[in-house]
Amino acid sequence: MVSASTSPRVHPAWLPDAALAPLGARRVLVDLGRDAGPVGATVVEEVRRATAAHGGALTVGDDASSTDGHDLVLRVAPDGPDHGFTRLRTGGVTVVVAPDATGLLHGLHDVVRAGDAAFGADHAPVTSRPVAPVRMLDHWDNIDVHPVMGQVERGYAGGSIFYADGRVREDLSRVADYARLLGSIGINAVAINNVNVHRTEARLLTDGLADVARVADLFRPHGVRTYLSVSFASPVVLGGLTTSDPADPDVQAWWAAAADRVYATIPDFGGFVVKADSEGQPGPFAYGRDHADGANLLARALRPHGGTVFWRAFVYNHEQDWRDRRTDRARAAYDHFAPLDGRFDENVVLQVKYGPIDFQPREPISPVLAAMPRTRLAVELQVTQEYTGHQKHVCYLGPLWSQVLGFPLAEDATRDVARIVSGLPGHRDTPSGDLPAGGITAVSNVGDDEFWTGHPLAQANLYAYGRLAWNPEADPVELLDEWIGLTFPGADPRVRATLHTLMDDSWLTYEAYTAPLGVGFMVDPGRGHYGPNVDGYEYSKWGTYHFADRDGIGVDRTVATGTGYAGQYPSPWRETYEDLATCPDELLLFFHHVPYGHVLHSGKTVVQHVYDSRADAVDVVTSWVDAWAALDGLVPDGLHARVAERLDEQVRSATEWRDQVRTYFFRKSGVPDATGRPIY
Ligand code: GCU
Repeated sequence: MVSASTSPRVHPAWLPDAALAPLGARRVLVDLGRDAGPVGATVVEEVRRATAAHGGALTVGDDASSTDGHDLVLRVAPDGPDHGFTRLRTGGVTVVVAPDATGLLHGLHDVVRAGDAAFGADHAPVTSRPVAPVRMLDHWDNIDVHPVMGQVERGYAGGSIFYADGRVREDLSRVADYARLLGSIGINAVAINNVNVHRTEARLLTDGLADVARVADLFRPHGVRTYLSVSFASPVVLGGLTTSDPADPDVQAWWAAAADRVYATIPDFGGFVVKADSEGQPGPFAYGRDHADGANLLARALRPHGGTVFWRAFVYNHEQDWRDRRTDRARAAYDHFAPLDGRFDENVVLQVKYGPIDFQPREPISPVLAAMPRTRLAVELQVTQEYTGHQKHVCYLGPLWSQVLGFPLAEDATRDVARIVSGLPGHRDTPSGDLPAGGITAVSNVGDDEFWTGHPLAQANLYAYGRLAWNPEADPVELLDEWIGLTFPGADPRVRATLHTLMDDSWLTYEAYTAPLGVGFMVDPGRGHYGPNVDGYEYSKWGTYHFADRDGIGVDRTVATGTGYAGQYPSPWRETYEDLATCPDELLLFFHHVPYGHVLHSGKTVVQHVYDSRADAVDVVTSWVDAWAALDGLVPDGLHARVAERLDEQVRSATEWRDQVRTYFFRKSGVPDATGRPIY
């Protein structure tokens, strides 16, 4: 069932009623064939709602129904494309065909996005099929409110939409609305609790199952399967066993029984997400086992039910000594996991953060993604803006993700990241030799905030994530344009133009006033990674350093003289990154320690680049304030006010970044800014 928001204060995101007007004004025939599942009911309900609001008509028919008298036919047919849909226009009728109701729902929203253009000239069938079969959002939501992290870890949009008052919410209407938004952009998997599984949340797997089932009931009608993050120590913590050793038969039996109970309650349950031996979470290392042993333990419990384990590769030593120059956090995931290639069961997906460190605005692509051809892989992105401005800064991440997914990482250059996570032909000991797909995952950015995402413009990130996970080749600026059209239907053209001015390059602008040239971090540990603190992690146990001294800055990760990280890449990337002459400017300080006077490919010295780009970026952000002010009265007042307030904070924060970073580089290097702009 499609529920409307119970609270009129909740913003409709990209599905305001007006966005459905082109569809709602038409005469629509829905034919679900033999698919009598809950998603079909959603398709019917969407059309019913749209036509009721906009004067069209709905007919629910069957395959005998003639298309005559209809403008749009939505039909489930066995010959529809696997996992996708086909749209054509013939004889003045738009026809969408899909093999099941889920494909039809995605096709319906394709028509919504196209608007009146879907009802133009006749055209041949166009098929749309997702590249990655699993397109997941992970919620870092806790049931309990953590004293430091709040309720949603790294959440910048209020409390959890799932939990309140120490339990799963009684009123889950926000979850129903959210499910509708996700279904409309093709997301098909959601993990509903934090990867750091605390004691209360661990119990979702056992005592909390009835509540998890209530949540799954709301996602199911939108084609979204529900997953749980589980604690590797569950047999001890929940089961009262003395061990969680994967080799222990009682432990194996415990997990099998746990999975049986889950599937008895939620037959289409997706599976588990696991953070093990990472940042204090329990894992197989405690028992002298490796991560294949750990992941396969859970996979074997899920296997009879068709479930999947998403096992995270974010494993590194977070108790490092900064004096130890040999340990490089960037190497960790590869060193731990690459040797395990081929050992993971078929229903394990290794979930790999896109970069080797931690969701920085600029990182090289994780070499793990190229190193495990016999393992199902998923790439993990971060929609929540932990390192990109806490949803106080405008930072449209579509272009970053588009670069990640399109990066030609593998030795076979036709296999970019999106294709690697979509499976590899001829790489597994199966009759076909094919490796099944992994998927694309990301940490969600929503909370119980009236605008879902704190900063209203951060809704575009959620939207673009879903759309890129479906089609990584889509142009991110075109996706932004699509989002603008849906979110502000019928708005004055100045709204569209201004949003492009603010958002198109906002990721690059953010990068330009924060840590330079790929070196990362420089964020304030005390404010949850918000704002500048150039040496904030320089002498810490977390292993993220920039090594600035009076002569230069950067981390030597070369094979020749550094940590050897560059050698984890296949050719040509290992050579490209190893050599100063070919290493791209934007990653220079990630791979090399260079003097401040080193001349970039751009022709500027490192230090002058730092001075210039920080100052220029603040000028850009400052110009956004007036541009946005000019939209007063052209967008809803509450939304206008919220964005205006956040832009003021962005200017303040970016200025702080500019002044601290410029001053830091001047004090270290003694080199003046050639432009004479102020340094403190
Ligand atoms: C980052 C983040 C943590 C999170 C972790 C993870 O380190 O700061 O809050 O738990 O990533 O991805 O597991």
